[in-house]
Amino acid sequence: MMKSLKISTFPDYETLSKEAAMFVFQKIKETHEQKNTCVLGLPTGSTPIGMYQQLVTLINDSFQLTTFNLDEYYPIQKDNDQSYHYFMSKQFWKPISSQSAKGEFNIPNGEAKDPQEECQRYEQAIKNAGGIDLMILGIGGNGHIGFNEPGSAPDSRTRLVNIADSTVQANSRFFNSMAEVPRQAITMGVGTILESREILLLASGKSKKNIISTLLALEKPDRQIPASWLITHPHVYVYLDTEARA
Ligand code: PGA
Repeated sequence: MMKSLKISTFPDYETLSKEAAMFVFQKIKETHEQKNTCVLGLPTGSTPIGMYQQLVTLINDSFQLTTFNLDEYYPIQKDNDQSYHYFMSKQFWKPISSQSAKGEFNIPNGEAKDPQEECQRYEQAIKNAGGIDLMILGIGGNGHIGFNEPGSAPDSRTRLVNIADSTVQANSRFFNSMAEVPRQAITMGVGTILESREILLLASGKSKKNIISTLLALEKPDRQIPASWLITHPHVYVYLDTEARA
C-alpha cells in the first residue's frame, strides 16, 4: 500500500468533482494569501470536466492565476476541436475570463515548428513562473500521467513522446477514425510533475478500477506504471469515486 498517498473516496462523480473543486479553490486562496498569485498544473480528459464546471463558479475577479497544461497532441492545430487547447478554452479559460479573473494560461504549442525548442520553452516558462503550486492529474488505464506512458523515467522533462497503442485506442472514442487519432504529443515529464509543490490525482469510474487497485497495492515505484512515481512525493492527494476504488 502506498502509505504516502492521501486517499479520499467519494460516493459518485458529482461529489468527487465538487470536492476536487473545493480542494483546488482552497489551495488557490491559501497560495494567493502568501504570494498574490497561484500556479496550477492542469489536465484534460473526461475526468476533470465536472471539477472545471464547479471551479469556474468559485473563482472570481480577485484572483490572479497562472496555469500550465500537462500536454498537447503534436502536431495539431489549436482550432481543431480535439486539441487540448480547444478543450481548455471551452472548459476553463473562457468561463474563467468571463468572470474577469486574471489569468495567464499556458499549454504546449501543438503548432510549433520545432517541437524540441517548444519543450525547452515550456520548461523555462514553468521555472519563470516560480514552479507549480498545485498539479492536478488524471490517470490513464495504463497508469500514464500526462502522456508519460509506461517506461517513462522519473527524471524525464517536457518532451515529444510517442503515444502508447492502448492510449491511442482509448482516445479514438473522440475521433471519426483510428487514422485521425494523433500518435505523438508534447508532455510535461514525470520529473517536471514531481517538482510541483502539491499534487491532486483524480480517478472516476469502473474503467479506472484495475489501475487504481494496482497502484494502491504497490510497495515501490514501478517504471511500467508512471503514476507510481507519485509515491516519492510527500504531498499527493488521490480523489476517487467508489467505482474507481471498488
Ligand atoms: P480520462 O483520461 O480522464 O478521459 O479518463 C485520463 C488520462 O488518460 O490521463
